[in-house]
Amino acid sequence: MSTDTAPRRSIAVAITGASGAIYAMRTLAALLERGCHIELVVSDYGRRLLRDELGDEASMDKLTGYLVSKYGAAVRNGTMTVYSNKDLGAKIASGSQGCQGMVVVPCSMKSLAGIAHGLSRNLVERAADVMLKERRLLIIVPRETPMSLPQLKNMVLCAEAGAMIMPAMPAFYQMPQTLDDLADFMAGKILSALGFEHQLYPAWKG
Ligand SMILES: Cc1cc2nc3c(=O)[nH]c(=O)nc-3n(C[C@H](O)[C@H](O)[C@H](O)COP(=O)(O)O)c2cc1C
Repeated sequence: MSTDTAPRRSIAVAITGASGAIYAMRTLAALLERGCHIELVVSDYGRRLLRDELGDEASMDKLTGYLVSKYGAAVRNGTMTVYSNKDLGAKIASGSQGCQGMVVVPCSMKSLAGIAHGLSRNLVERAADVMLKERRLLIIVPRETPMSLPQLKNMVLCAEAGAMIMPAMPAFYQMPQTLDDLADFMAGKILSALGFEHQLYPAWKG
């Protein structure tokens, strides 16, 4: 049976201003390679961190070109809509949108706090709030070290509300050789949580 008519899976991705832009890029590429539709929102500091950590070629206006040149043409299997973080009328600001899941990668402590307290001050926070209220999968990938008590409590609040807290903590038992290996590990964890099969890191054989 042809799968050409199978609906694309829609996943919301938010990129905020924590270190770890490479995790966001690898996650986006892996989802696009699998033919997903991505609803993408990037905070102002998320945009800055893309440039600071990956260079001007990874700036938002060049994003698709960057993903294709780094990860290959299969990235074009998917589609992507990019929203302004100020656009609280965007599709993903509503519970009637069809995203099965959302990942905030990387998630700053500021955005974590906003999500934990249901502030909905911008589209990142509102879209995450929608996932929680609709009881859909919200994966939060926080990055900070060390962490204050308020930051730890904000993670607990999000977990209690139903989010999956997946700290940006790649493992080393798969013997990473490069930064890309570390990014593959985090992207693989995110894909597994979203229910995708992948070979982004070697399966643990015990
Ligand atoms: C180079 C740089 C690195 C940063 N890294 C982190 C980080 O790892 N974690 C974090 O919580 N905030 C980090 N910040 C601070 C956030 O970017 C800042 O709190 C910002 O207001 C977050 O806003 P946003 O959540 O809307 O993106 C960093 C800022 C800069 C400029």
